[in-house]
Amino acid sequence: ALTGAGLGWSAAAVALPVEDSTDRTDRTPGALPGARVVEFHGPHQAGVSTPPPAHLSLLGLDLRRGVGAAGLARLMRLLSDDAARLTRGRPALADTEPELAFTPAALTVTFGFGPRIFDEILGGAVDGAKPLPPFATDALEKQWRQTDLAVQICADDPTTVAHARRMLLKDATGLARPRWIQNGFRDAYGMRPDGTTMRNLMGQVDGTANPAATDPDFAELVWSRRPGLTGGTFLVLRRIRVELETWDQVDRAGREAAVGRRLDNGAPLTGRDEHDVPDFAATDALGLPVIDPASHIARARSANPAQRFLRRGYNYCVPDPSRPTGEDSGLVFVAFAADVERQFVPVQRRLAELDRLNQWITTIGSAVYAVPPGCAEGEFVGQALLG
Ligand code: HEM
Repeated sequence: ALTGAGLGWSAAAVALPVEDSTDRTDRTPGALPGARVVEFHGPHQAGVSTPPPAHLSLLGLDLRRGVGAAGLARLMRLLSDDAARLTRGRPALADTEPELAFTPAALTVTFGFGPRIFDEILGGAVDGAKPLPPFATDALEKQWRQTDLAVQICADDPTTVAHARRMLLKDATGLARPRWIQNGFRDAYGMRPDGTTMRNLMGQVDGTANPAATDPDFAELVWSRRPGLTGGTFLVLRRIRVELETWDQVDRAGREAAVGRRLDNGAPLTGRDEHDVPDFAATDALGLPVIDPASHIARARSANPAQRFLRRGYNYCVPDPSRPTGEDSGLVFVAFAADVERQFVPVQRRLAELDRLNQWITTIGSAVYAVPPGCAEGEFVGQALLG
């Protein structure tokens, strides 16, 4: 249990023992949502297979010029220490607003290393993150480009996220600086029963056909077995803008046809319940396929189950008075896969070739990071790589 030297820790913010459970949230009975702790330490970093909290702030950082392996190790030691403290509801070292740390609200901090870390800093010794090939539908904007590092901060409280971001960036500043920050959100905690699939801003139930932690092949799909990265994973980030102006002009039937699922509960057009298996062979009275072969799910679903990956994206919505909707919205699409080239690229390639959703979505940012395995108490993320 924690002691707070008179600073008044939340009594319910008790760290769980280190173990490899997918859901590491402490649900002490009676605890307020703000007191929920997701253990930072463990064989895998938290923030991948742990349930996605309501708020995301994803930071893309570049190392400052001249920072090499030793500097990166120093940075990761510092940031891992901050993350270990903050996720337990304890202030970071030299925290200027310690009270803001007392509501961890299921905070997770997940670190990723971009391709340059492997190619230049580690001298190609480890088979790490590689850039994605270009896709026909990409319209990438430079401001959302690949960076050296990604820091994914998730929590159920926006103040918690803002405070964690501030502490991490403050401690990083001598060695790295942010290039972009991508904020996002899902349903607020407690709005719906735990485990309810989120909705995106197009109104769709989004995340139904996702590998579940209980699937026998989950570990194989998500956790890397590569030397130096065993127990880690890869994060694919795509910033996808949604044209809500034109989406608004589509009627309900057209919207459902574009995805191949119903809007009311996310069921496939051939089924009744959300988790019914879509029947792509089913035809209607006219002999036409019930699920359009060009629909998003028909194109995204792989016949090869080894081509699945974990989607863990967030909605984004940034005020933009220059647009008729007053906002620039879409998805901070985050996917985790043990092998990006084998699992993600074939699906993205298929969708770029044909997907009815493409009419309303544009990928404006793209990056890939290797997410090193988790660390034990007293260690830092990336320690095995940076030794
Ligand atoms: C399924 C929306 C981008 C891969 C779905 C579903 C929706 C959806 C509503 C059906 C429910 C579900 O199973 O989650 C969107 C939107 C996107 C987007 C709004 C962009 C703004 C992407 C991208 C990829 C992708 C870029 C991968 C490259 C998938 C996969 C499925 C899926 C694999 C499950 C297919 C299945 O097995 O049934 N998406 N998606 N999606 N999406 Fe997307």
